[in-house]
Amino acid sequence: MLVKYYSDMLSKKSAIRNLFDFGRSRAEEIGKDNVFDFSIGNPSVPVPDSFNESLKKFADYKDGTLVHGYSPTLGIQSVKEAIAASLNRRFGEDYTADHIFMTTGAAGALAHALRAVCEAGSSVMVFAPFFPEYVPYITGAGCIPKIVPPRMEDFQIDFEKFSEMLDESVSAVMINSPNNPSGVMYSEDTIKKLCAILSDAEKKFSHPIYLISDEPYREILFGGIRYPYVSKLYDDTIVCYSFSKSLSIPGERIGYVAVDPRAKDAELLVPVMGQISRFTGHNCPPSIIQLAVAENLEVTSDMSVYERNAEILYEELTRLGFRCVRPDGTFYMFPEAPGGNSEELSERAKKHDLLLVPGTTFGCPGNFRISYCVETEKVIRSLDSFGKLAKEIF
Ligand SMILES: Cc1ncc(COP(=O)(O)O)c(C=O)c1O
Repeated sequence: MLVKYYSDMLSKKSAIRNLFDFGRSRAEEIGKDNVFDFSIGNPSVPVPDSFNESLKKFADYKDGTLVHGYSPTLGIQSVKEAIAASLNRRFGEDYTADHIFMTTGAAGALAHALRAVCEAGSSVMVFAPFFPEYVPYITGAGCIPKIVPPRMEDFQIDFEKFSEMLDESVSAVMINSPNNPSGVMYSEDTIKKLCAILSDAEKKFSHPIYLISDEPYREILFGGIRYPYVSKLYDDTIVCYSFSKSLSIPGERIGYVAVDPRAKDAELLVPVMGQISRFTGHNCPPSIIQLAVAENLEVTSDMSVYERNAEILYEELTRLGFRCVRPDGTFYMFPEAPGGNSEELSERAKKHDLLLVPGTTFGCPGNFRISYCVETEKVIRSLDSFGKLAKEIF
């Protein structure tokens, strides 16, 4: 019999999916170029040449089992060593290969991190605005999401609300900085304050509270801003990384978990994740892709495109009267919907062939997400539609 829990989900079709369907049918009518689709976070800048060269090189290997055979459950040793060395060099950490677990993207990394440290029935705290898939990720691990309301003025953490909600049931806190959907990065002060509260809570409740740091946008930062590496500031940190955005390869499904060497049970967490992969089916990520990313750990696609798009949109939207926190990175921004109803704004925007995602699913119904991983030329052409929308609503 069909499982009701999942079949019930079919009736709650996501806002992003609805917009995507609308965009597709509209594109058939007026042409793809005339639909300003800011709904999906699919990287648009080309994959770096060096990644494609690595792929071609490995595809030509005579030893097919190395590149096309099963990967070891925890990942290919040389790849894990290369990742540990790169993180140590860049962030002053002291990982070894034993702290790295290869995964199918950030989704795979989060599935294992959550299951490894969060007993079923415990709570996992998340800060709004948040990536909507966090809810199924957490509930799928048998846990309960506890959503901390947003600090609207700058999208840093509302510590008063966080402290009120942090109780004994909490096994982990998830953060995503720089953030989807706001584009905002937590400052070092914010991270330090969060870590201090968590350290006190660990003592008070006599159990570890892991900080699960979801970092797929870590490499997409604007204006030379420096990334405060979370694991340096809190021992019980599990970093979840993905190459989806930094190398523009979301379809290749590759990422990793990096367990801080000082975390509670650090030496067991990666082997335990190997066991968990037998349940999740997210096991043995493709060998050839592991080998190719290992040769490109400090390479990224041309992120300047996203920075330029962010500048153009931020300047024009604020000029038109929209209020918006300036993004520090990613390819998202999250302006306020005038009047506070983002669903209504998204409907109105559709009339101008602008696809904007209502903030409801991100835990902020008064804002809307613009995903600007599109060509700059298209961003510029979209400004006219934003102007018409602004004229209508202000
Ligand atoms: C914040 C965040 N976490 C996780 C993911 C999932 O990443 P991946 O596609 O690498 O599994 C995404 C994807 O958009 C994301 O935005």
